[in-house]
Amino acid sequence: MIFSLEKELKESLEKRKIEGHLRSLKQVVNPSAVDFFSNDYLGLAKSSILKKRIEEKNRSSQSNGSTGSRLLSGNSSLAESLEVKIAEMFNAKEALLFNSGYNANLGLLQTIPKENDLLLLDQTVHASLKNGAKLSKASTHFFKHNDLNHLERKLKEIGPKARQVYVVTESVFSMDGDLAPLNEQAQLCKKYGANLIVDDAHGVGVLGPEGMGLTSEESLSPHIFARIVTFGKAFGTHGAAILGGPILKEFLINFCHSFIYTTALPDHSLFSISEAIHFQKENPELRRQLHINCSLLKKSLNLNENNKSPIFTYFPKKGEDLKNMSNFLQKSNLDVLPIYSPTVRKGEERLRICMHSFNRKSEIEKLAAKILAYKEETFNQRLYS
Ligand SMILES: Cc1ncc(COP(=O)(O)O)c(C=O)c1O
Repeated sequence: MIFSLEKELKESLEKRKIEGHLRSLKQVVNPSAVDFFSNDYLGLAKSSILKKRIEEKNRSSQSNGSTGSRLLSGNSSLAESLEVKIAEMFNAKEALLFNSGYNANLGLLQTIPKENDLLLLDQTVHASLKNGAKLSKASTHFFKHNDLNHLERKLKEIGPKARQVYVVTESVFSMDGDLAPLNEQAQLCKKYGANLIVDDAHGVGVLGPEGMGLTSEESLSPHIFARIVTFGKAFGTHGAAILGGPILKEFLINFCHSFIYTTALPDHSLFSISEAIHFQKENPELRRQLHINCSLLKKSLNLNENNKSPIFTYFPKKGEDLKNMSNFLQKSNLDVLPIYSPTVRKGEERLRICMHSFNRKSEIEKLAAKILAYKEETFNQRLYS
């Protein structure tokens, strides 16, 4: 039987609408609202000084685009020297540039694990890692979020049946804001002969030695098989790199489709990445201010989390409605957005608050006060209704 495609698509959209989670593209409605939702943790995406530096560098470029894949006409000494610089700065042997973190994760997990291999993913990793695992021929299992006992059980029970085992996690979880126990996970991987893969997208620029990410720690980096760093978040630009050994790099250049079959980044992007990394290093006060701001929010909301992540979550209590809460904050000129399923699991919808170096003390105090006021109001409504 042939179904009308339009009808099928419309029905899926209707279903999502009824569930209240229909996605739509929005312009920034209120440019004066305070940014508590972007990944621009250090304000580099809007830095006029960095912009000027990138433009000055790009003046030497003769091209608008790279004209092809790195394996055809798109390679350049600029790309190669940037990879050398990235490897050095992130304390890695080699780096390979990708057009985005999404492409890097998808390609890495599609390419490296083979049939009869086992992929063990933290259950809350980013969609790009889950989708990469779906494209892989390896079998995929999930371990409970940050649960070392559950991970060890899986390594012990199903690990021995596999040819190679890969443990995949994020350093700073994008939707939860908590940190992975990377040292303990690396030890488990060593004990069971597994290969650790860490996506440091939200750690780089913010945490670790000189802000180069949690995976750049000297004691940790040699124990990680592959790390993913991205430049579209704290570095305020675009693109990503996979860090690892020379064999991994050569293998990806030969077999990774999301590296091979795509037009390489243009000079402008390469200059942007290079300048952003240097700018971040030269301005440690941005990172320092970000951490001061995170501490202030924690203190104002009485949160006793002791990690240094710039991502905070607020899970609504019974009777609190995420959309109402977000609208309430928006009306107060505070841009905080709710995160719904399927981005997070059903029943785990939350507000995601991102802190920045440029958020002012008064703005952070206002955010905390508004959240507390909303909680009190809904608590009283519940009490007296
Ligand atoms: C943990 C994580 N990994 C990878 C990505 C994808 O990176 P990019 O935005 O560069 O494609 C994201 C982006 O949201 C992310 O949060």
